[in-house]
Amino acid sequence: TLAPVLTIDGPGGAGKGTISRMIAEHMGWHLLDSGALYRLTALSAMRNGVAVDDAEALSLQAQALDVLFAVEDGAMQILLEGDDVTTAIRSESVGNAASQVAALPPVRAALLQRQRDFCKTPGLVADGRDMGTVVFPDAPLKIYLTASAEERARRRLLQLQQAGEDARLSTLLEEIQARDARDMQRSVAPLKPAEDAVELDTTQLDIPEVVERIETLLAERK
Ligand code: C5P
Repeated sequence: TLAPVLTIDGPGGAGKGTISRMIAEHMGWHLLDSGALYRLTALSAMRNGVAVDDAEALSLQAQALDVLFAVEDGAMQILLEGDDVTTAIRSESVGNAASQVAALPPVRAALLQRQRDFCKTPGLVADGRDMGTVVFPDAPLKIYLTASAEERARRRLLQLQQAGEDARLSTLLEEIQARDARDMQRSVAPLKPAEDAVELDTTQLDIPEVVERIETLLAERK
């Protein structure tokens, strides 16, 4: 890969999505939301009646994924077979299915090249769990974003409330802990910091502070 890549990995709810989007926008770089690809694979499987543990059928779903990332009025829109699924893929049920699907090696293999294809000039911000460890091991700057599980559950609750949904903090915390455990304990591409990653704990930091720290590091590495 010729263009520079900034990888941002970490558990769900640490702020990767928002922060990656803001940095990509500031830099004028491309953005890879790799979690969306796992979510799309899960949603496609659910719609086609494929079981979330049928590795072979799921890897075919992943390979054949007909997806379009479009920017509409400055917001990212995600189309699955022409159908707008931007909101649908963010549900808890799709997220949980995505984390099961993502534990299957054939599914990860099927999505590998599709992710690498996002790396184009002038650069790429890649958001996920294994961007720095597996997909872009040569990235010049790798960030590992964390926050306490309690803080991440609080952030998720706020997000849901803003979307007009209701949820219990204790349920969200349990789901976050279950998803962390599954992502960290799986045998392929487990969630962990790359050896050369810079770790940033965002529990006490707001979004502009995190963005500024990462952009400072990026300027130093260039
Ligand atoms: O980041 P997001 O919550 O959208 O990711 C959904 C699920 O996809 C995660 O829980 C994780 O299991 C999986 N994932 C992954 N590798 C990535 C990105 C996401 O395994 N690079």
